[in-house]
Amino acid sequence: MKEIKIATTVKVFKDIEELATADKNLMQQAILARKKAYAPYSKFNVGAALLLANGKIITGNNQENAAYPSGLCAERVAVYYAGAQYPGVKINKLAISASSNITRVDKPVGPCGACRQALAEYEITQKQPFPILFTGEVGEVIKTNSLADLLPFSFDSAYLE
Ligand code: THU
Repeated sequence: MKEIKIATTVKVFKDIEELATADKNLMQQAILARKKAYAPYSKFNVGAALLLANGKIITGNNQENAAYPSGLCAERVAVYYAGAQYPGVKINKLAISASSNITRVDKPVGPCGACRQALAEYEITQKQPFPILFTGEVGEVIKTNSLADLLPFSFDSAYLE
């Protein structure tokens, strides 16, 4: 038996104002997308903005459904749209913002497990990590260097070979 330590370093900004201009601009796109979320059931609104290597910014937000499991998270709406419209174009960065109509979200909201898995597919395929920034409605912003930092031991196509 041996033990290994898995360590992740993230940056924590006190709010979006502390971000570098490019990161702040992308987060502002995520906020705009969040405001257009369709979340009548959870009343929890999420926006995601992807910066692609071709300079395009692709945004998505959560799309809920009366048949609850049929809904989709903001991150997957954005990344699948990017994959559909710009196949093979690398993702350079992702920003995520979340708010609630019920409570004040003052902590960074990270992508859910299923979205991490979906995003991992793209990061692994493009062989280039992309930073992810996430925040709530107010307060701190967390910035990771890569999706892999959020999903150690991820499942990928290598297991299928
Ligand atoms: N949601 C996202 O859009 N992204 C996440 O990473 C977590 C959850 C959405 C799904 C659902 O519409 C609502 O937030 C509450 O779970």
